[in-house]
Amino acid sequence: MPRSRRLRRSDQIRGLTGSASVNKANFIYPLFAIEGKSKKEAISSLPGQYRYTLDILKTELKELKEIGLNNFLIFGVVDNKDQKGSYALTKNQIVAEAVKLIKDTDQNFLVFTDICLCGYTDHGHCGLIKEKGNQLVIDNDETVKLLGEMAVIHAKAGADFAAPSAMMDFQVKGIRAALDNNTCEDTGIMSYSAKFLSAFYGPFREATGNTPKISDRSTYQLPVNHGKQAITEIGQDIDEGADIVMVKPAVMYLDIINEASKRYNAPIAAYHVSGEYAMIKAAVQKGWLDEKRAVLELFTSIKRAGADIIISYYSKEAAKWL
Ligand code: PBG
Repeated sequence: MPRSRRLRRSDQIRGLTGSASVNKANFIYPLFAIEGKSKKEAISSLPGQYRYTLDILKTELKELKEIGLNNFLIFGVVDNKDQKGSYALTKNQIVAEAVKLIKDTDQNFLVFTDICLCGYTDHGHCGLIKEKGNQLVIDNDETVKLLGEMAVIHAKAGADFAAPSAMMDFQVKGIRAALDNNTCEDTGIMSYSAKFLSAFYGPFREATGNTPKISDRSTYQLPVNHGKQAITEIGQDIDEGADIVMVKPAVMYLDIINEASKRYNAPIAAYHVSGEYAMIKAAVQKGWLDEKRAVLELFTSIKRAGADIIISYYSKEAAKWL
């Protein structure tokens, strides 16, 4: 029988034998871009996170580079919304401009862009809606066409990866084809493959104003209790051409991350979402948690479960701690 505590005897032995480690090279930091000038709007539900106009984002990027954060996921937040999310297909849209700015600041920055309509539709759904009988349904295949066009616009602006989050069937296949047909073969896809219908997106919806006005996302996001479907979706996205697959949220779904990491060889990203961030922040503000220890424990758990990449609003603080 080994005496287990032999392996815990010193920092050096503990360091030598631990397997999951947190590294800022694996972080992706979400950034919210808005139109206009000289604005840095605090997001009250996400303490420490902001919506930036591009002139201010430019300064922020310098700071992020200094602390060694090089990977960003861009969300556009706009007032200009309509039923079809037309803004998403305009050429000089805020996300494309943000991508150009980031790449101009440093070619080595990696840029991921969220590909979804919910930030641009007035009804707030991730896809186009149409009436069928007296029911509103999401037009899956028409939506996929738009997602492909959106991805091409971002790719032409310099994005490295399209990150489709609409949970439409065959969105990865459609986006891959659109990129390939438009000479963007080198642009990758990080798919939100297993995105659950989670209560933990609440604070994000305050950040971007993308709450559906009618009904909810239950016909496209995964039911919380459908673990097997999540694993199937991840496999299907890999078959459709996803380079990186994502599980979202992270901590409540470590079982899915773990299962996927055993079954598939594609890199797995875990999205530590807005509600997961906000609940730690709230407890820290009350003085109930040691922030650094809690966050690094949580990130270690995500890695231990089998994720390669961590997407988190905590990336900036964590990068400073490491
Ligand atoms: C857009 C999108 C959402 C998030 C990422 N992309 C919101 C949603 O699906 O409602 C959530 C991110 C977070 O909560 O941090 N489809």
